[in-house]
This record gives sequence, C-alpha cells and structure tokens, in this order.
Amino acid sequence: MAADPGTGRPLTPAEYEVLARGRLEPAVWDFLAGGAGEERTLAANLAVFEQVRLRPRVLTGQGAPVTDTRILGRTWSLPFGIAPMAYHTLAHPDGEVATARAAGRLGVPLVVSTFASRTFEDIAGATSAPLWLQVYCFRDRATTRELVRQAEAAGFEALLLTVDAPHLGRRLRDLRNDFRLPDGVVPANLSGGGFSSPGGHARTEFDPALDWSVVEWLRSVSSLPVLVKGVLTAEDARLALAAGVDGIVVSNHGGRQLDGAPATLDVLPQIARAVAGACPLLVDGGVRRGADVLAALALGADAVLLGRPVLHGLAVDGARGVEHLLGLVAEELTEAMALTGTGSVAEAGPELVVGAEPADRPAAPPRPRAVPARPGDLRREDLHGSVSDPVLDTMNFLNEVTQRYPEAISFAPGRPYAGFFETEQVFTHLRRYLDHLAEGGASPEDVRSALFQYGPAAGQIRELIADALRADEGVDVPAESIVVTVGAQEAMLIAVRALIAGPEDVLLVSSPCYVGITGAARLFDIEPTAVPEGPDGFRCADLEAAILAERARGRRPRAFYVVPDHSNPSGTTMPLEQRRELLDLADRHDLLVLEDSPYRMVSPGRQLPTLKALDRRRRVVHLGSLSKTLFPGARVGYAVADQVVVGADGSTGLLAEELTRIKSMVTVNTSPVSQAVVAGMLLAAGGRTSESNAGTAAYYGDAMRATLSELDRCFPEAERAALGLRWNEPTGGFFLAVDVPFTADNAALELCAENFGVIWTPMSYFFPQGGGERSLRLSVSYLTRPQIAEGVGRLADFVRWAAGERP
Ligand code: FNR
Repeated sequence: MAADPGTGRPLTPAEYEVLARGRLEPAVWDFLAGGAGEERTLAANLAVFEQVRLRPRVLTGQGAPVTDTRILGRTWSLPFGIAPMAYHTLAHPDGEVATARAAGRLGVPLVVSTFASRTFEDIAGATSAPLWLQVYCFRDRATTRELVRQAEAAGFEALLLTVDAPHLGRRLRDLRNDFRLPDGVVPANLSGGGFSSPGGHARTEFDPALDWSVVEWLRSVSSLPVLVKGVLTAEDARLALAAGVDGIVVSNHGGRQLDGAPATLDVLPQIARAVAGACPLLVDGGVRRGADVLAALALGADAVLLGRPVLHGLAVDGARGVEHLLGLVAEELTEAMALTGTGSVAEAGPELVVGAEPADRPAAPPRPRAVPARPGDLRREDLHGSVSDPVLDTMNFLNEVTQRYPEAISFAPGRPYAGFFETEQVFTHLRRYLDHLAEGGASPEDVRSALFQYGPAAGQIRELIADALRADEGVDVPAESIVVTVGAQEAMLIAVRALIAGPEDVLLVSSPCYVGITGAARLFDIEPTAVPEGPDGFRCADLEAAILAERARGRRPRAFYVVPDHSNPSGTTMPLEQRRELLDLADRHDLLVLEDSPYRMVSPGRQLPTLKALDRRRRVVHLGSLSKTLFPGARVGYAVADQVVVGADGSTGLLAEELTRIKSMVTVNTSPVSQAVVAGMLLAAGGRTSESNAGTAAYYGDAMRATLSELDRCFPEAERAALGLRWNEPTGGFFLAVDVPFTADNAALELCAENFGVIWTPMSYFFPQGGGERSLRLSVSYLTRPQIAEGVGRLADFVRWAAGERP
C-alpha cells in the first residue's frame, strides 16, 4: 500500500479501510462494517457511486473552488459532516471525543449517535464543531426526552431523528458472530440497561408504532431544529415536509436491504425534486471519495454525511486519523470541483453528471416551507369557506404536481401555446393604439392621461370591443352595454354577484363545469346547481328539469352558465338547433344565460353563431375573454350586458351599469395599459380578431387532430373496446375528454406523473356535485407536436398499466 512519504499515512480513504481492517478484531470489524445494514445495501450504494461519471470542463477561468456550505444557519467549511454511528470506542479508546476533535479541526459537524460511547459533555468539551444528536425514539418516551435534554444542555444544535430504525433488519453477521459489546463499551448517555446487544435494542426498546406525529412530539420537548434520517421516497419526503421537519437525510441505514432497499444516490434526484429547496437535504451511504461528495451535491443534496470511512480513520490513528481522512476527502472534493468547473457548492447541479444533464427546462420553484403551528396562529376553519373549498384545492394540487414533475409532459394547463408570444408585439400593439388616439385628435396630455390615470370603471375601449363584436360575431350591441373587466373571471364574478341576490336565487351550471364560475360563486357562498351533460354535451330537457325542480323547492332560477363552443372541460359544442331551444327556454322561464366562449376564435373553420348573436330578447349576458385571442397576461375580458334594469322609481338603465358599480369596488378599473395593448390588437387586421387569429386557430386545430390521431394509433379499435376506453373528438378548442377504465383521481395522477412522466387533469375536478371519477381532461394547446406524440404514448402506457392494476 502506498503511503505519504512525509507522514507515512495512507494516501486514500480506501487505504484507511484496509489498514483499519487489519487492526480490529474480526467480530468488531464485522459489527462496524455491517452498521448501515448488510453487505447488499452497502454494495448497492457503492456500486451507484462507482458508476457516476462527472463531466470534465476546461478553461473555466475559475480560481480555487469554495467549499463553504450553509446549513441551518451555520457555515460548514465543507459540504459534508460525520454520520451518526454507535460506539466509536469500538474503533478507538477515545471514541467520539477523538472524532469530535477532528471534526472541529476541519470545521465540519458531527452527528452523535443515541448510542454514543462517550458522554455528550465530554464530546462537546473536545470540539468547536456543530454537534447534532441522532435520536431514536424509544417506547419509553421519557428515555428519549432525557437524552434530548442532556444534548441540549451540552450545547447540541439540532436533532436528527432516525426514522427507519423500527424496521431494522436482522444484522446477519452480528447474529452469526453472536456479537456482544466488549466490557466498557456502553451507551454513555442512556440511563437503564438492556442495551448490550446492539441488534436487540432495536426490536425491544424502540417504539415500533411511530408515525409522523413524532416530529411534533420532539418539537414539544425541544426547541432545536428537527431533521429526519432514513427517507427513501419522494412521498415520505413530502410527508416529512408536511410534518414540519427542518431537514431530511436520505439514508438506507435501516437494513431494509433484505427487501432490496434502493441505493440512496438513485432515489436522491426524485426526493430533491419533491423537496425543491424547502429544507436542507442531506444524503449518506457509500460516500467514499471527494468525487462521490460532488456527485451527491450535483444530484440534489445540500450536503452529505460520511459514515464508515470516519471509523476507519479513527481505528487507524484516533483523532489524527479522522482528521487526515476527512482532509483527504476534502482535497479530492476540491480537485473534482476544479476539474468540473464548479466554483462553489451552490453551483453543483445535474449538468456535472454524465446522463443526468437536465433537459432544457426550468427548475421547479421552491415550495413554501412547512412551518410548525404555534398557539395564536390563524385557523383555516375560521377563514371564509372558499379557501378550503375542494374546487380551489384541487387546482392547487394540479399546479403542485406540475411543479413537482417539471420533466413530465403536461396535458393539464389550458394555456395558449407560448410559441405565439413575442415581447415586441406588446409595443407594436400599444403604439398602434396610441397613434389611433392621436389620429382621433387626442392631445399628448390626453394620451398620457389615458395611460397613466385611473380610467372609467366601465373601461375605455368599449367602442373598439363593440366594433370587433360586430365585425367578428355579428353581435350588434351599443358600447354602453359593455364592461371591460380583468379577464373573463371578473366578468363572471360581477355577473354572479349582481344576479344572485338572495338565498332563493339559483345559479345553474352545465356540469362538468369550468371551475372559474363555481369558484366565483363559492366566494359569495353560492352553491351552483349542476345540470349534468350527456356524452354529447348539454341538453335543454335536463336544464328544464333542473329549473322545475328548483321552482318546486320554492327557489328562483336566475342564470345558467354554459360554454357553448368547444367547452372547458369536456370539449363539446352545442348544436345550432339547441342554441335556439336554449334561448326559448330561457325566455319561457325568465332566465338569463351566461355565455362564456373563449375558444371560438382560436378554433379552425367556421363557428356556429354565438348565443348572443342569436339573442333577440336580451336573454344572454356574454362573457368575453381576450386571453386566448391575444394573451392571458393582458388580463382583459369583458361582459356584454344589454339587459334593461328598471329602478323602483321607474328609471331605466342597462345591466352593464350595475355591473360597473360592482366592478368599481372589485378592481376599480381594468388596467389602462392593458386595455391600450388590447385595443392595438383589435385595431390590427382591420378590426377582425378572427383574421388576426387565423394562424393560431390553424395551429390549435392541428394540435387537436394530432392528439386524436395519436390516440387512435396507440389504441386500435379492438383494444379500445376491450379496455372500455372512449374519447370525444372536438373540432376545435383546447380540450378533449377521455373516459378510462379506472379511477382517475389525484393518486392516479401523481402515480402517472412520477412513473410515466405525463400529467392530465382529473375530470372530477369539474363536477361541483360529484361525478367524472373515471374520466380525464386532456388539454392540447400548450404542447408542441413531438411532445403530443411522446405524451400520448406515455399516457397509453399508463392507461394499460392502470387498467390492469387498478380497480
Ligand atoms: C451506523 N449508522 C447509524 N445510524 C443512526 O441513525 N444511528 C446509529 O446509531 C447508527 N449506528 C451505526 C453504527 C455503525 C457501526 C455504522 C457503520 C453505521 C448508520 C450511519 O449513520 C449511516 O447511515 C451509514 O453508515 C452511512 O453509510 P456509510 O458512509 O457508512 O456507507
């Protein structure tokens, strides 16, 4: 074995291992070697590190890499610390005191085991290193509480709760050796006996029925930060965050190797994605060289813990051995950082590792940190019911899943395709409108005021919207009947507020239904009445039945919300005859129709007339959106409300004026700057939005056709029938509905995102009163053609799997 000619010490951590083995009793060696489970776990951890290849970079212009790392408010001089290990006195008589001394010299933390063989006081007295206590939770909580108290008294800075211990595997080598701790090697900080057989204590003394509430319990007995060690799945990482932990250690120490525990480095990336920076993430198991440390950092860890190599250093030369060994790892790390052009620990990302380079995708935004509840905090149930409404929660879940699996292909967002947007368009539209104002005789002061001041509550581009409605839709309404709103969402909100006056007033919605309307209703404690759609969409007979049923209950149906064209979520379109029937029905029952139709002009081919265009008796309040035809960031929509409202004194006005009154207390007025940009777009293409959107409509039409033909290709007729799979075939819009032979709920969605890399929306989100459990919504608008092809293929894999596996 090579040795440093100056010091005579080994040149690599591996050489320390060989030397240590020679110095220790075989049974002691076996105990130390088997500490993190058995051979298979260790071998798996080592093998994965062995396979990692780092990508060398050249001429990076970087000086010496900086290895400082900040964890829980403390700066470590290196991105690694020492993992908790029982009974250091087995390796060297000075035990943990020697290890702590070395840690202090290097400026790295030491996690002291529950089964430390030196007292916390002695250990703390030997070092300036940050000390954490590794906690096992005993059946007798008083034992754990006392342990924590002693550690706090000795100045320890954090608690690291080992959560995989209750299932500690049978440590085969110790059983074979009938290994018992030598005389004098005792758990120095545990009162009471019964701890002499290292394997025995797990089975007899540890609390086997622990759940995540143990985190809260630890918090109740200590003010120190609580980390958990032993997490191996993204699900458990999320539960840990929800339980309010301050850090997570990915570790397979619990000996679950008998069932084939995964190597920690393998599961690290998915756990890192789940944690997404919400708390420090550490990993241990198999870290032997500086390059291993860098690989773990690159794959998502904030720092790593070193286990057995430290005991090797300790066995060979006490504190000096540990210090030298850690120094070797530090040197190797610095060298690996320099060779990969990594200037600092924070810079280490997946691009350092061959095969893990991220595709061209944005990093997931950090999740808000789960904070522990304290007395005096607000209670969610004391807030308005809308904040806990499932409608609002489900959408949050969908967003969360999308953020957690950024590499999954998402058929979820009903967003326009980003490829249409160019920043310059905003300026071009704005300039066109300002020129238009000037040409109309506006002075520079007028123009400035039109942009910079509060504007009229009803909006300042109503004439242009009225012109566009006439040119595009054959809807002829006076400008005064229009209210410009902050997106169609505000139009819904103020229409619902105005029309639903009291508890007897009923808002009917075609169901499945766009969540914007049900959510808006919920803000006012209004529970909409669902009118179920058939496979081909809404039916007048069902609406009439619902109206009569509400009347029979003494209630007053006031308005019916519907998306007649390429509806969200189901993609259905109301036939012409039914549109006429609906208007007659509305007239007969003195009902207003809230028509929301944002996808018409971005759909290919001729569209049927809007309900408003067919409306001869002012039964329709049309809710308009420019988010699809222009861009959603403008947040401009409008309501057309030409209904006459008669006052108690016999005076008359338009419903639009009443909506404006409400709007003035919601958003005062729609941003004049946004209105100006929208107006510029309306002025383009001779005022015909349909013309300026011809290319967009063709694009989305093509996306829909591509999705349908991929579905056809992936599921031949016979297989489709055998599986009981069905989808509709919309001719436009963004959405289609797929009926599947399994429950398409949040759990299925998450599973599909994680294992099949594709995201969709459970149709049940859109049923205010239940339904749609075996159906999902696909949105085709946001994806490129190759993504659609790949995404449908992945979805097909999932459907086949789920049809076989899930009831
Ligand atoms: C351990 N480990 C451990 N973990 C823990 O939470 N509490 C403990 O008391 C012990 N005891 C222990 C003793 C011995 C001898 C060994 C080798 C290990 C597990 C340890 O913290 C860590 O998870 C692994 O050892 C890390 O893997 P490497 O670096 O040893 O491969």
